[in-house]
Amino acid sequence: MTDNQILALQPDHIAELQQRYQRALADHGYSALLISAGATPARYGDDQGAPFQGFGPFLHWTGLTGYEHAWLLIQADTTPLLWLYQPVDFWHATLQLPSEPWQQAMDIRYTANRALPPLPAGTGQGEGLAVLGDPALLAGVPGDHNPVALTVALDETRMHKTDYEVACLTRANNIALAGHQAAAAAFADGDSEFKINLAYQQATLQRETEAPYHSIIGLNEHAGTLHYQYYDTTAPAQSRSLLMDAGVRYRGYCSDITRTYAAAGEGRFAALVKGMDLLREHLCNMVAPGVEYLAIHRKAHSGVAVLLSASGLVSGISDEAMVEQGITRVFFPHGIGHFLGIQVHDVAGKPVPSPAEAPFLRLTRTLEAGMVLTIEPGLYFIPSLLEPLLQGPLAQHINIAILGELKGCGGVRLEDNVLVTETGARNLSRLTEN
Ligand code: GLY
Ligand code: MN
Ligand code: MN
Repeated sequence: MTDNQILALQPDHIAELQQRYQRALADHGYSALLISAGATPARYGDDQGAPFQGFGPFLHWTGLTGYEHAWLLIQADTTPLLWLYQPVDFWHATLQLPSEPWQQAMDIRYTANRALPPLPAGTGQGEGLAVLGDPALLAGVPGDHNPVALTVALDETRMHKTDYEVACLTRANNIALAGHQAAAAAFADGDSEFKINLAYQQATLQRETEAPYHSIIGLNEHAGTLHYQYYDTTAPAQSRSLLMDAGVRYRGYCSDITRTYAAAGEGRFAALVKGMDLLREHLCNMVAPGVEYLAIHRKAHSGVAVLLSASGLVSGISDEAMVEQGITRVFFPHGIGHFLGIQVHDVAGKPVPSPAEAPFLRLTRTLEAGMVLTIEPGLYFIPSLLEPLLQGPLAQHINIAILGELKGCGGVRLEDNVLVTETGARNLSRLTEN
């Protein structure tokens, strides 16, 4: 899809949000909603702040990730009012809004005064007004601040993506896939984690501070730290494996993609990556309306058990018993994925808590068309989780020699972003956009 085709979807997106938000406000007894974009506080004792990324509900309407101290006012049957803070400031550049179709559905005004949000007539004392945002920025603002029931309802307006959102998520995937390709080439050249990151940034033209999350770039045993957060500036003597989990934001929408590579000569680890890829594909093919996401998580555990047997890592115990007795959880400790959208771990995924067997699962819903989620099976060699297993009665089933060979490769995770369609699913991380 071209840029202009994506932009052409914006008016329908805004019209749909008008309806969804008006319904939620009416259902909860409010006539107006004020949304704060947020702002970054200065570090304690310093005049510098953390990089800023705007608040989800503000991005839902505007896609503007970089506007601090802005406000959006939504009222029934009224044009939304977007209040952008534009100080007179010779230290910093002033952000300019590129002209786009969504703005025609908004009344956009500029203010040099960050203290005053716009208030609808008649709500001076806060009657009928709900306010969403960081409580630290809401002091003195009338109305109900972050009312829980309304917040839940508004989060649910983000579950079913509009055509515009699907287009943005698709583009965010395609840009990130170019970055992953560049990262794979840097790995093949024996580059350090730091240089692999540079290759990714160069290919995606995205600053780290704009990314939906800090890229996870683990060579060798670093691949076994689920959210590994450092970049070594020197390459290891021998690069055996790379796990790279990185996305981009496009108009506020996130991608979240993981790829794992085995170096030449790592036959056993390469076989594990290949087996995991078949499992990933199988799990992605399970995505369809009416499917319990928890069933996909459970299937991932059965698949990990099959891989543990096939690789020779675990033997003398059935695949079912491996799952029941917790062996698969040692190797695959996280959930199979989460909702994806304006936030990488998008809202509204857990109307009910996850079961005890899956404490880190972030999505417990039955799948419906329009939802976008990740499928991210993994298998890791994590010393702090392996140690109790190796000290206990199940240790007899573990092949120490194979474990010893593989643990220097850290682990494997493969992660795709999948749209639930009316009839099944579309894998956004395997498409070439046209
Ligand atoms: N990149 C974080 C995650 O996969 O959930
Ligand atoms: Mn990820
Ligand atoms: Mn993820």
